[in-house]
Amino acid sequence: MTASARPQTLWLGRWGFVLAATGSSVGLGNIWKFPYMTGEYGGGAFVLVYLLCIALIGVPIMMAEIAVGRRGRANPVEAVRQVARESGRSRLWSGLGWMSMICGFMILSFYVVVAGWSISYLWKSVSGGLHADSVAGMAAIFKANNANPWNLGFWSTLVTIVTMLIVGKGVQAGIERSVRWMMPGLVIMLALMIVYAIVSADFEAGFHFLFAFNLDNLTGEAVLAAMGHAFFTLSLAAGAIIAYGAYLPANQSIVRTTLTVAICDTLVALMAGLAIFPVIFANGMDPDSGPGLIFMSLPLAFQAMPFGGVMAAVFFLMLTVAALTSSISMIEATVAWLNQSHGLSRRRASWGVGIVLWLVSTLAMLSFNVGADWTLAGKHFFDWLDFLTSRLMMPLGGLGMAILTGFFLRRHIVREELAMPTWLFALWQFALRYVCPIAIVLVFLDALGWLGSGLDWRWLAGMLVVGLLVELGLRARASIRDRAPVR
Ligand code: TRP
Repeated sequence: MTASARPQTLWLGRWGFVLAATGSSVGLGNIWKFPYMTGEYGGGAFVLVYLLCIALIGVPIMMAEIAVGRRGRANPVEAVRQVARESGRSRLWSGLGWMSMICGFMILSFYVVVAGWSISYLWKSVSGGLHADSVAGMAAIFKANNANPWNLGFWSTLVTIVTMLIVGKGVQAGIERSVRWMMPGLVIMLALMIVYAIVSADFEAGFHFLFAFNLDNLTGEAVLAAMGHAFFTLSLAAGAIIAYGAYLPANQSIVRTTLTVAICDTLVALMAGLAIFPVIFANGMDPDSGPGLIFMSLPLAFQAMPFGGVMAAVFFLMLTVAALTSSISMIEATVAWLNQSHGLSRRRASWGVGIVLWLVSTLAMLSFNVGADWTLAGKHFFDWLDFLTSRLMMPLGGLGMAILTGFFLRRHIVREELAMPTWLFALWQFALRYVCPIAIVLVFLDALGWLGSGLDWRWLAGMLVVGLLVELGLRARASIRDRAPVR
C-alpha cells in the first residue's frame, strides 16, 4: 500500500507527539540507569560528557528519525523504504527499518522484567514487605523477589498485558490518552520527591555530587558508556521515534519538538539524580552501588527517614509509570507494521505481538531463577538481549540512520522536513555525516575490545582525516556536477 492510500492517523493534540515521545524517552533509563551510572563513573564529569552526547549525537539523530517517520508516514520498515525510494535509493535500506523494529521488540523483552521489578516494589512498599536492617538485607529481599519464577513472572506478565492493552486501543485512544495523564503525574511525583530531598535529605551533597566537575574521574570507558546511554535514553535506533514521528502533523516543527523532548528527558534524568542522591548521602551510603542503587540502597535509606514509607511508594509508582510510557513506544512499531503491512486490526496485532513478547520475556525472566545456569558464553538470555541491543543493534541502527539521512536522502526532502535556517542545517548535516559516525565507530571498536584502555587520540585523528577526505570528495563531485552542461 502506498503511504497516501492509507487513511492517516495523526496525534490529536498539539502536545500529542511531545508527550508521547517524552514518555518514550523518560523511562527506566533515566531513573534507574542514569543515577547508578553517574554513581559508578564518579559524578559531574560523566554528566557533562553525557550532556554533550545528547546534544551532538542524540539530538541530530532524533531529528533524522522523526523526519524519516513523518516523510514515510508509516511504520519503520515501510517508512525507511519509502524515503529511500523517494530519493532513488535501494529498497535494501528497509533493512534498517527491520533492524530497528526488531531491536525495539528485543529491548521490550527484557524491559518488562525490570518494569516488573518496579511494580513489585511498589506493591512491597505499600503492603509493608520492604523492611531490612542493612543493604545486605535489602539485597536478600531483591534476590527472593527474583527467585520465584511465578512471582517474578506475574509482575512482568502484568506489565506486558497493560502495555499491549494500551497499544491495542490505538494511537489516539490508547497511547495519546494514556500519556496525557501519565506524564503530568510523573512530573508531579518527581517534583514531590525533589521537595522532599531538599527538606529532609542532604540536598547539597547530592547536588555537589551531580554537578561538581572532576576531570580525574573521566575514563574512556565512561565516555563510551555516556554515548551508549544517550541512544538508549532518547529511545533512538529502536523504531520508537520513527513510529511516533509518522503521526506528527505536517505543520509541527521537528527541530522544536526534538529539542523539547531532549531537554525534558535530560531534565528528568538530572532531577531523578537530585531526588535519589540526597537521600543516599543523608544516610551515609555510597553512591556507587551499581544497578542495585534504587532497589537496595534507596529503600533502605528511605526507611530511616520521616515519611520514608510513603516516599518509597511514590518513588516506585513514578518508576512504574515512567516504564509504562516507554514500553508502549517500544512495541508501537511492531503493532503498526502488522496493522499497516499485513492488514491486521490493531487489537489483533497487539494480542499477537503480546503473546510472542510474553514468551520471549518469560525466557528472559527465567534468567533470574530456574534458568540461572542456562548461559551462552557466560551470559544469560536476559543479558544477551541487553548486550545485543545496546552494544550492537542500537549503535548500528544509529550509524545507518546517520548515513542514510546525512548522505543518501535527497537534500530537498530533508530540508523540507526539517525546515531550518541554512546555517543550522549545515551544522545538523555535519553532525550526522561526521560526528555521529565517528562517535559510533568508536563505540564499536570499544565493544570489540580494540580500544584497549580507552580512547586514543590516534583513533580520533585518523577518523577526522577520513571524514575530511569524504567531505572534500563530495564537494568536488558536486562542483563537477554543477559545471556539467544541462541536457
Ligand atoms: N528511553 C527509555 C528509557 O530511558 C527506554 C526506551 C523506550 C527505549 N523506548 C525505547 C530505548 C526505544 C531504546 C529504544 O528507559
